[in-house]
Amino acid sequence: MISLQQVSKSFGPPNNRFLAVDSVTLSIEEGNIHGIIGASGAGKSTLLRLMNVLERPDSGRVIVDKRDLTGLGNRQLREARRSIGMIFQHFNLISNRTVGGNIVLPLELAGVPKKERLNRMEEYLHFVGLWDKVDQYPAQLSGGQKQRVAIARALANRPRVLLCDEPTSALDSVTTSGILDVLRHVNERFGVTVVMVTHEMNVVNRICSHVSVMDNGQLTETNPVEVHTND
Ligand SMILES: Nc1ncnc2c1ncn2[C@@H]1O[C@H](COP(=O)(O)OP(=O)(O)OP(=O)(O)O)[C@@H](O)[C@H]1O
Ligand SMILES: [Mg+2]
Repeated sequence: MISLQQVSKSFGPPNNRFLAVDSVTLSIEEGNIHGIIGASGAGKSTLLRLMNVLERPDSGRVIVDKRDLTGLGNRQLREARRSIGMIFQHFNLISNRTVGGNIVLPLELAGVPKKERLNRMEEYLHFVGLWDKVDQYPAQLSGGQKQRVAIARALANRPRVLLCDEPTSALDSVTTSGILDVLRHVNERFGVTVVMVTHEMNVVNRICSHVSVMDNGQLTETNPVEVHTND
């Protein structure tokens, strides 16, 4: 589903380049929940942003759902990104839009007709258990509820892949459990391939099918996760 082939990304001025992602090759099969773990500054977020080409690689190829994203122009890329959802540690909801408004906005931008927008908003708010909050504003929600709204918003575009950058790092352990359950349901019910950056091994052990370790811009190992714990 996702194939990175010798992908590199560096930042900074020409005389002081910093290699954040160093020739990473990684293959993630459809339907997997793939964890990426590593120390702060290892390049995890950059690697995730390379998967939907929010960061353009300096070299290498990024192939998602059989499409080479590195060869696409900006317009084609925007369209291809609709099949790749993303959620973040700090939720990134729009504060002056209601819960419902947050979910329909990307659909408006994608040109989805109004009736279909409202149908999908209702479907995915029910899925994350927050239909009763449709008219509330993000400031009125708890952290866990905000992340559920962000998940519903990502799902409304019917993505094939969901990229998650530390989605539970701002949440307590009980709330974290609930969000991990939602992500597992997303994977099982809709067959969405999930890639999750985390610094917590217990998150990996809870839901991931595979895990890669990142160190200093390099992927040092990738392994299946055998045992799933419940805590
Ligand atoms: N836009 C940017 N401009 C300059 N440097 C950047 C940029 N994005 C990332 N970096 C640098 O690249 C390195 C990797 O950053 P990245 O955010 O990918 O790490 P991370 O593993 O996600 O860390 P954390 O666990 O703290 O989130 C860091 O040294 C960071 O300072
Ligand atoms: Mg990060």
